Amino acid sequence: MDTDQIHRDATAPPTETRLVEVVMPEMLNHQGTLFGGDALAMMDTAGFVAATRHSRSVTVTAHVADVDYLAPVSQGQILEVVARVVATGRTSMTVVVSMVAEDLLSGDRALAGTGRFTFVALDADGVPVPVPPLAG
Ligand SMILES: CC(C)(COP(=O)(O)OP(=O)(O)OC[C@H]1O[C@@H](n2cnc3c(N)ncnc32)[C@H](O)[C@@H]1OP(=O)(O)O)[C@@H](O)C(=O)NCCC(=O)NCCS
Repeated sequence: MDTDQIHRDATAPPTETRLVEVVMPEMLNHQGTLFGGDALAMMDTAGFVAATRHSRSVTVTAHVADVDYLAPVSQGQILEVVARVVATGRTSMTVVVSMVAEDLLSGDRALAGTGRFTFVALDADGVPVPVPPLAG
C-alpha cells in the first residue's frame, strides 16, 4: 500500500462536506437520546463549512428551514452529517444537510435528520458579496 499516495489523496478537493462525531453522554436529552440542539448545531456547522468551501468567503447562516428529526439517535452511535451546496443566488447559497446515524457494531445506517440552510457570503466589512455559481 502506497501510504504517501494515501496522504496525497487525503488533500484532494472534497466534493461534499462530512462531519463525523460519536454520540457522547453529554449530548443526550432527558429521554437518553441525542439532544436536537446538538444535532442542529452539527448540521449548521457542516452547512457552514460546505458554504465557505464553495464561496471561499466568510459566511453566516441567514435562514434555517425544513429541519426534521426523523429517528432518535442513541449514545455510542455515530452521527455522520453530510452537507452539499445545491443552489446559489447572487450572494446566498442553499445547503441541504443529511444527518445519518450509524451503529458501529452492526453497520446499520439510518437517516435521522434533514435540513435546508441558507448561508450568505460576506466581505471584510460584513457586506454580502457575490458567490460563484454552481458548476455544471
Ligand atoms: C444574512 C445577512 C448578512 C443578510 O443581510 P442583508 O442586509 O439582508 O443582505 P441582503 O438584503 O443584501 O441579502 C443578501 C442575500 O441574503 C439573502 N437573505 C437575507 N436574509 C435571508 C433570509 N432570512 N432567508 C433567506 N435568504 C436571506 C437574500 O435573499 C440575498 O440573497 P442573494 O444575494 O443570493 O439574492 C444579515 O441579515 C445578517 O448578518 N444576519 C445575521 C447572521 C448571523 O448572525 N447568523 C448566525 C450566526 S452565523
